[in-house]
Amino acid sequence: MPLLRKTILLLFIVSVFSHKSFYRTLNDGNKIPSIAMGTFSLKNPKQSVLMAVKAGFRHIDTAKFYRNEYQVGQAIHELIETGVVTRDELFITGKLENEEHDRKQVKPGLEGTLKRLGLKYIDLYLIHSPMATGVNQNYPNLGLLSYCLEHNIQVMAYAPFGFMVPRFVSYRPIRPKIDDPYLTKLGEKYGKDTTQIVLRYLIDRNTIPIPRSDNHTHITSNIDVFDFSLTQNEILNINEFNIDTKVYVLGALKDHRYYSFNTC
Ligand SMILES: *[C@@H]1O[C@H](CO)[C@@H](O)[C@H](O)[C@H]1NC(C)=O
Repeated sequence: MPLLRKTILLLFIVSVFSHKSFYRTLNDGNKIPSIAMGTFSLKNPKQSVLMAVKAGFRHIDTAKFYRNEYQVGQAIHELIETGVVTRDELFITGKLENEEHDRKQVKPGLEGTLKRLGLKYIDLYLIHSPMATGVNQNYPNLGLLSYCLEHNIQVMAYAPFGFMVPRFVSYRPIRPKIDDPYLTKLGEKYGKDTTQIVLRYLIDRNTIPIPRSDNHTHITSNIDVFDFSLTQNEILNINEFNIDTKVYVLGALKDHRYYSFNTC
């Protein structure tokens, strides 16, 4: 076989089967980037989205609830106008507001989001809260994830760092912290930070983590997780941090029909 064909074949095999792949394929054949920039509670959403896309993020996760769609939209327009990306290179996720889940509220909800973003379409429209789930090393959600994997359903994982980073919720002395010895050891092995190890863990567990940050160093580090992957054993070891505790419990929604925040 000529060398070129062999190389192309090899590249094809690598891109289809490697966990390092940046994209997943959804049930409908569309591609979704396997990591997203979170935008909740950013101090300067426009600036952070600009930084994120320039650093390599292609998937931006926003919501009406975050009250930042207008600024996120401004960043998207600026990125397109300055030739950093085209619209179809971006994957934009929006969300149907909690308290607006009635059938008749869906279309106006989406129209409002499109208007505030200044876009003709978004790539994914999630039902906020009931259809999103926290997944991290403290709440690996193994049962749900295996069900979804079996049915080819992609899972987005918010609060990907668990209790490693400061949270609005009060400080909780829950392992792993940012200097965890085991994650540090893996970090040394792969030349990565502990936060990158945890993001890679979530990608290797077939979820789509949504790290959010205002900090250029952290944003750059969060996207720099596609040149390595963890071994099966390492993934199992990280699963051991499980304490079935979510970072956010959103008690205000506890009467919702699809309330999904019950923890042990
Ligand atoms: C960003 O993060 C780096 C590394 O953690 C830190 O040294 C720096 O002070 C942070 N920058 C800002 C503006 O907070």
